[in-house]
Amino acid sequence: MLAREKSGILTVSLFTVVFVNPRILAAETPAHLDQTVTLKGWVHVRRDMGKIIFIHLRDRSGQVQVVFVPGECPDYELAKTLRDEFVVAITGQVAKRGPKNVNANMLTGTVEIQARALEVLSAAQTPPFPLADTQPVSEDARLTYRYLDLRSPRMNENIRFRSRVNMFLRNYLVTEGFTEIETPYITKGTPEGAREFIIPSRQHAGQFYVLPQSPQQFKQLLMVGGLERYFQIVRCFRDEDQRGDRQPEFTQLDLEMSFVEQADVLELVERMFTALVTELCPEKTFTATPFPRITYAEAMAKWGNDKPDIRKNPSDPNELGFCFIVDFPLFEYSDAEKKLVSTHHLFTSPQAADLPLLDTDPSKVKGQQYDFVLNGFEIAGGSIRIHDQELQRKIFKILKLSDEEIETKFGHMLRAFSYGVPPHGGIAPGLDRIVMLLRNEPNIREVIAFPKTGDARDLMMGAPSELPPTALREAHIQLRSKKE
Ligand code: AMO
Repeated sequence: MLAREKSGILTVSLFTVVFVNPRILAAETPAHLDQTVTLKGWVHVRRDMGKIIFIHLRDRSGQVQVVFVPGECPDYELAKTLRDEFVVAITGQVAKRGPKNVNANMLTGTVEIQARALEVLSAAQTPPFPLADTQPVSEDARLTYRYLDLRSPRMNENIRFRSRVNMFLRNYLVTEGFTEIETPYITKGTPEGAREFIIPSRQHAGQFYVLPQSPQQFKQLLMVGGLERYFQIVRCFRDEDQRGDRQPEFTQLDLEMSFVEQADVLELVERMFTALVTELCPEKTFTATPFPRITYAEAMAKWGNDKPDIRKNPSDPNELGFCFIVDFPLFEYSDAEKKLVSTHHLFTSPQAADLPLLDTDPSKVKGQQYDFVLNGFEIAGGSIRIHDQELQRKIFKILKLSDEEIETKFGHMLRAFSYGVPPHGGIAPGLDRIVMLLRNEPNIREVIAFPKTGDARDLMMGAPSELPPTALREAHIQLRSKKE
């Protein structure tokens, strides 16, 4: 169109063309045979055959071939300037390809667009790496230019698949009577065992918020609030060392239910994930259904760990070995702290049969606590919570928390529970890990749009970064010199 805009009349006539032809997607072109259509997208590749220019135009639906023939397209000269990744609008006629030219590997391989008008919406530099397959490219380069990495078909499909997973789970839980509720990100610490990211308060000098490791306390307080069935697709923050299956911010499908027992939570999770796989990944098979319930003791004895890979053929990319690990010990001895600590968290209920052991040998008490495991990865953890205040106080004592600590850390929970709390429990599947496994990806960074590097940096945005002195002063922060 650039060339045509010089003439007012042509601009008007072109406007009419565009008006008559609202944008369609590449994948829709075979249904518009012999019609004049407008497409918008990226130049995926350009090939010149003599004087004829072929491009593959890519949009969110896929690709279609466009042909520029001298004499047939007034913008032919402009087409000569096209390079990979230019963003363009093309108007042309959808034509059937001759039998010899049909491309069976392309969804739109029976047609091509005979270009009549071209507009360059945005020229593009040559990308720093080829976008067709970015897997061999260094991860630093991929993360620095993540917006280009996301254009690669694999990454693009991973991110879209993730959205479908979210939508499926959301719909599923809503039809099961759950309410989606947002809980605060700027809050107080919750005891899940990881180090927390802290946020200094500007308004309250010397005081801090923390980013939540999970909405654990809020979801229990929502049960006190009478919501009965809560879920949230929620970001959680943990300042831990990174691994392939760990990020400092990650996403849980967090849920909590009132008036349930362990078997109810596991049954819901089993049903929901079976339905998800059946609908979104029909090519996948299950190692065992119902998903085996394996005790912690059995897992340790048989596999030597509490996240066993139960698959019959671990090299089959379509086999999914789901199982639940149950009967975890409630406490473990911490050499660092020289005392018992909770293996899950301190709101987890002991098993009823083991209650007498709390007074005699707490290390032998088992919890109403479960993990959900897939192909050797822990994909969810949860428990039935303590709703009896006396029992909660007993657990605090075994964990050697002082009265003052109990009041400052958990006073709000005990107070809330004193107003009547239903028996409740829940679980939190880690969505990044689940999507990673369903997509057969080697780490969760492949299924997160903007992940951090192994040393918790965002190379694209340049975070973390220094702040100007005024910003530090406002947050009441004084930096120590590097030597201290
Ligand atoms: P838990 O701490 O076991 O339980 O976490 C639940 C699930 O979250 C995922 N996960 C992570 N994923 C990526 N990066 C991380 N750093 C990371 N940490 C955890 C895992 C894990 O199984 N509040 C409880 C749940 C409950 O009791 O209901 C909780 O957060 O898949």
